[in-house]
Order: sequence, then structure tokens, then C-alpha cells
Amino acid sequence: MSKTEISREAIENQRRIIGRIRENHAQAGISPLAYIDTYGCQQNESDSEKLRGMLDSMGYAFTDNETDADVIVINTCAVREHAEQRVYGNVGALVHSKRNKPDQIIALCGCMVQQPRVAEKIRRSYRHVDILFGPQALWRFPEFLERSLNERGRIFSIDDEPGAIAEGLPVVRDGKVRAWLSVMYGCNNYCSYCIVPYVRGRERSRRPEVIIEEAGRLAAEGYKDITLLGQNVNSYGKDLDSKPDFSELLFRLNEIDGEFLIRFMTSHPKDAGERLFKTMSECRKVARHLHLPFQAGNDRVLRAMNRGYTKTQYLELIDTAKKYMPDIVLTSDIIVGFPGETEAEFNDTLDILEKARFDALFTFIYSKREGTPAADMPDLVPKAEKQRRFDTLLKLQNAISEEKHAAYVGKTVRVLTDGKSGDPRYPLTARTNGGRLVRLRGSIDKVGSFQNAEITDSNTWALFGELPE
Ligand code: 5AD
Ligand code: SF4
Repeated sequence: MSKTEISREAIENQRRIIGRIRENHAQAGISPLAYIDTYGCQQNESDSEKLRGMLDSMGYAFTDNETDADVIVINTCAVREHAEQRVYGNVGALVHSKRNKPDQIIALCGCMVQQPRVAEKIRRSYRHVDILFGPQALWRFPEFLERSLNERGRIFSIDDEPGAIAEGLPVVRDGKVRAWLSVMYGCNNYCSYCIVPYVRGRERSRRPEVIIEEAGRLAAEGYKDITLLGQNVNSYGKDLDSKPDFSELLFRLNEIDGEFLIRFMTSHPKDAGERLFKTMSECRKVARHLHLPFQAGNDRVLRAMNRGYTKTQYLELIDTAKKYMPDIVLTSDIIVGFPGETEAEFNDTLDILEKARFDALFTFIYSKREGTPAADMPDLVPKAEKQRRFDTLLKLQNAISEEKHAAYVGKTVRVLTDGKSGDPRYPLTARTNGGRLVRLRGSIDKVGSFQNAEITDSNTWALFGELPE
């Protein structure tokens, strides 16, 4: 057991509470309903799978309609203001749902509510919210819910703690083909614009044994695509006594029996390097996809962001990755309009796009996050100008993505069919090894298998293809 792990007794206690709640439902002869709404990143989706696991074990079934639900859980995101505004809007609207169903329990969790100013606002102005807890307290959800079921009264738990790891609580995953697997939690990087280190606590790694065991179980259950999650997977293991590193973990996961792919996100350019790329190139199961956020192309901006690398270093890193894996699919995150970013500095970001030629990008306009250093930096660039830069960036990237996708046309590529699309012309969705989206003609009984697809067409966002009869 690592020093950040929650004790077995404490987990056992939550499991006992889960059992008690299930028992009470069974004795009362009721099958209660739960509704979970998830905002934000994959880590939040993964956390919601744990909430679903706990609720499922307590005897709850799930509904897509919040007005029917006995318990509503909203798992929030704090990374940008837009997501917060949506949460306020949706939580506000739940007043009506609760008026019609006064016993309904409304819980808010996730990164947004871990911020004291948000928790205070909910406490004062959203009085229909019964339970509020931050990401570090997720494992205590059964305890909060039991108290709320028995005593009413409001429960708020957002103590400022470095965070821990809770093993051994139930999980109900969203699909049967792709699975999230957290390898670490928290972030120590303190990029100056980012709220994550303040709400998700310090970096802490799960032990390699539990990760390998979980991956083995997923592979045995038939999952074909396992994505390892962490804010900065390249610093995996630094907090553990045995100091396993991420490459070692990849090697060990690669040895697990079965046909499946291993992906991971997110890598940080300051910690990723030759050893990682060499490992990727040597591990057959590790997907040829690297998500390597560079955020900005200009050295002054990168310094102000506290990113720990320069434009030249970033481009060299990509060259090294391509040296080991010429077929690597590259994606990245970019922020436009960081405080004080000049036109010339923005042009350095465009220059990176031209040079790195990413397959796809996740682009964001800077969003001021209270409590972060960047929130106090002078920001004189008008909103319209930021929007113009954002549009310019998108236009350039769209052209590059379109060109890169067009290069697949006429080729046969190995894909994993991962779902149904609802589009009768292309009923299947699939992903290439590098993670590009493919819309496929073919029979839906092929979902969940590796196939060779002929790529017949493409656009900016996807490839189109068919499965040979
Ligand atoms: N404003 C805009 N984008 C942000 N991100 C993180 N914080 C902010 C912010 N304050 C982006 C970064 C990160 C991605 C997950 O979200 O690009 O990589
Ligand atoms: Fe935020 Fe930077 Fe940590 Fe990513 S690495 S979560 S951008 S602080």
C-alpha cells in the first residue's frame, strides 16, 4: 500500500454503507433512480463511472431524465468559465425538478465546486443543492448520501487536502470496447493559467500492481482500447517508493495477454522524451498516438505560462518522436489570447502548427480562472481580437487536418470498430491505431473488433470507409 492510499478500513466502511443503502431499498421494495451529468475531461468521465458503480451497488437504476431521478449527481469542470456558466444554469433549473419531487437529493461534485468561492455561492444561492464535495472526497460519496437520506440537512465537503487514492470501490464503465484507466491523480505543474492543481490536489500515482491487475481484468472482459489517464502521465511513479516510471509501466501493460490497444493522456513536453518514444515504438500494443499539448508557440508566453520548455525544445521533441515512429499521430492543446499575447507572439503559435503538422488540435480561448497567477496579469487584448486569432488558428489547422486525412484515402488501415453511429450511410464508428475517427459502412455486429477498413473518403474531422464483405 502506498502512503497516499486510503486505508482498507476506511474503504470497507464505505462498502458497508453501500450495502446498508441497498438493503434499505430492498426492504422498502423500491428501485430508485439516479441521474448523472458529467462535464469536462476524461478524468471526470472516469470519476462518473465510479459514481455510477457506487450508485449501482446501492441498488439505483439510471435514468436520462432528471425529473424522474431520486438522486441527481452533477460532476462539474472548472477549467474554463463557459463550463461553469452551464453548470450554474442547469443547477438553477433543478429548482423546478425538486419542487415536483421534494425528496429528490441533488449532489454537486467535481473540480468546479472544490473552489471555495463556488461552494460559497452554491451554499447561499442554490439552496436546493443537498450535497457538495470536491474530487478528493469522491470515495466518500456513499457516506454523504446515507447521511442525506437519513438526516436531511446539507453536506458540504471541500476541505483543502493534498488528495489520496481510493482503491477497491465499484466501477460501472460506460461502454464495452473502450475503457479509461487512471494511473495517477492531481497535478504539480502549476501552469499559470490552470485551476487544476488547486482543485485536484498533488500528483499521486496508483501502484503499478493495481494498474496492471485492472488492465488485465479489462482485457479479459473484452475491452479493446484502454486509455491511461493522468494530468501528466510522464511524471508517473515519482511519488512512489519503488519509483517505477511510465515507460516501465507501458512495458508491463504491453505484456498482458489479449488483443487490445493502450493509449495514454496527457503527456507534458517538459517530462516526455526519448525513453518514452523508444518504449512506444517497441510496444506493439501501445497506440501510435501522442497527445502533447504545447499551449503556445512563443518563448515569453511559455515562460509566463510556467510551462518549462521553449518552442525550439518542443519542435525537437516532436522530431525525436517522429524519428522513432514515423507514422505517429500527433495532437495538441493550444490556448489563444493568454494575457498580454501580442500578434507577433501569436504568429509563433501558427508557426508551430506549420512545422509540427498536427493531425488534430484542441484549441481554447484563454479563460481567466480566479486564484491562478495569470488572473493577475494585465490582459489588454480585446475579446474580438482573441476571437480573430482563434479563427485564424482554426482555419490553418483545419486545412492541415484535411490534408492529413486525405492521405489515408485509397489505403487499407487497421481500425477498431467502437460503436454505432445512427447514420444509415455509415452505421459504424471506428478509430485508427493513431486514434483518428473513421465512419464505416458495414454490419453493426462488427462493433468491438479489429478490422481492416478501406478508406474511401475523408474530410477535416473524419475518415470514411468500408469493411470488405
Ligand atoms: N483557459 C483556457 N484553456 C485552458 N486550459 C487549461 N486552463 C485553461 C484556461 N484557463 C486548456 C489547456 C489544457 C486543456 C485541458 O485545457 O490547453 O491543456
Ligand atoms: Fe493544468 Fe498544466 Fe497541470 Fe495540465 S499540466 S493540469 S495545464 S497545471
